[in-house]
Amino acid sequence: NQGQRKGEFVGSLDCGTTSVRFIIFDQYANIIAQNQLEFPQYYPNPGWHEHDPEEIQQYAELCIQNAMKELETAGWAKESVKIIGITNQRETTIAWSRNTGKPLCRAIVWTDSRTKNTVIHYEKKLEEIGVEVKPGVWRKGKDGVEALREITGLPLSTYFSAIKLRWMLDHIPDVAAAHESDDLLFGTVESWVLYNLVGGASSSLHVCEVTNASRTLLLNTTTLQFEPCLLSFFGFRSSILPRIVSSSEVYGHVSPDVAGGYLAGVPIGGLVGDQQAALVGNKCLKEGEAKCTYGTGAFLLFCTGDEIVKSDHGLLSTIAYQAGPHAKPVYALEGSISVAGSAVKWLRDTMGLIEDAAGVNTLAAKETDTGGVYFVTAFSGLLAPYWDPGAGGLLIGVSQYTNPAHIARATLEANAFQTRAIIESMKLDSGNDLQLLKVDGGMTNGDLAMSILADLGGFTVVRPEMRESTALGSALLAGAAIKLFGWNIADPETLREVNTKGTTEFRPHIEDKIRRRKWEGWQRAVERSKGW
Ligand code: G3P
Repeated sequence: NQGQRKGEFVGSLDCGTTSVRFIIFDQYANIIAQNQLEFPQYYPNPGWHEHDPEEIQQYAELCIQNAMKELETAGWAKESVKIIGITNQRETTIAWSRNTGKPLCRAIVWTDSRTKNTVIHYEKKLEEIGVEVKPGVWRKGKDGVEALREITGLPLSTYFSAIKLRWMLDHIPDVAAAHESDDLLFGTVESWVLYNLVGGASSSLHVCEVTNASRTLLLNTTTLQFEPCLLSFFGFRSSILPRIVSSSEVYGHVSPDVAGGYLAGVPIGGLVGDQQAALVGNKCLKEGEAKCTYGTGAFLLFCTGDEIVKSDHGLLSTIAYQAGPHAKPVYALEGSISVAGSAVKWLRDTMGLIEDAAGVNTLAAKETDTGGVYFVTAFSGLLAPYWDPGAGGLLIGVSQYTNPAHIARATLEANAFQTRAIIESMKLDSGNDLQLLKVDGGMTNGDLAMSILADLGGFTVVRPEMRESTALGSALLAGAAIKLFGWNIADPETLREVNTKGTTEFRPHIEDKIRRRKWEGWQRAVERSKGW
């Protein structure tokens, strides 16, 4: 430790869908050290997508160690990290044993669509029996669907945790037995990672952060508590559920026995779903501000302030953040697209059309259009605003003339069209026509991808220079929990000096009539992919 400088930094552990990363920021959001590791993905059957919870943990801890070594190599003492935050892929469902602290099965990932029949079962239940919202008061049929939306802000879908957990109980004997004997703990990824970082079964810290809880289909977004009537609807005992906590408070301290002891005793002060983290990281903290993150999927969140705006056009009403245990929650409308970067990954890993992710831009640039090809990237159905778990991936308009560059370009266009579909819904729900969209995430590195987005979307795309917004968001929430650097999420003025490195703007260039024609083509393609 001798001779090493002492700084004041915040660490952010981002447990995403395909990789984990640990980034250490200073008070201006300069990156001091970082590490990123891809971890194994399991696709045991068509439509299935699993993670090993122990691998998530191992990779997360290794990533912390690598970044901490980099910090020390840069001459900083490890004690410079004052607090850490955790942000995570949402909805992914983990079941583990209260007694041993070990997972009872693999995690079912948010993209997984094996639960189509579970959804159909609960749709029928809602239709025929309904949900008992108060003793003796049943709401069923369309009104039952409405009740679910009023309580949770969500539709019944394969996307959300309750459906995945129900599938585990129905199909995995160990999970069912643990439920029966009261040994089962359910959690989302931040619950699991926090539980392990503070010492696992011996610490018994079993919590779920509120933005993550808002994706379970069990949370009442007004009371911020799990809703008893939904527990009985899905048949879960309440003892399996974590305690709900805010997005910014000290939950516990890192155990000396994890991550090579590098963070021993460091407080963990921010937990937040990754898309909400990116909203905070982009400083979209007030009503009317929006961002879209293009990672594995793409997620557009539009902040609606302290109002829960109900969507009639296929969007989710979700919690944006709660900046402390006593703070009022801030809400958002969300449009979730399940396939964005994962389509590029597919072009690279499965189809072998490109060598690396950036190559999609180089390949697409070889043509000026798609040659009439549309690619509906419905690899596991379609989420917002279409909500069709049965939609099939579709390449249409293919001819002898079609070449790999057309397909690469159609992949980038699919992103742009799906973003536009969400913005159209947002316009209808909130009356707000977005003229400007802040973006981040791996796919935004490509200038061509961003020009196509602006052209087909018909809005200006604003890309920050430093676009680790997800990690930054959880760092801000963590720092604010101990008022580090005077950060206060409720007062954006205190974040004025954070991430001021500048932005690049992409403006729409194509003619309206071309945009309209292409948009109509996309809509026709989507109709054909539905119900496959
Ligand atoms: O809802 C799923 C989302 O949280 C996953 O985000 O960045 O891993 O694609 P990402």
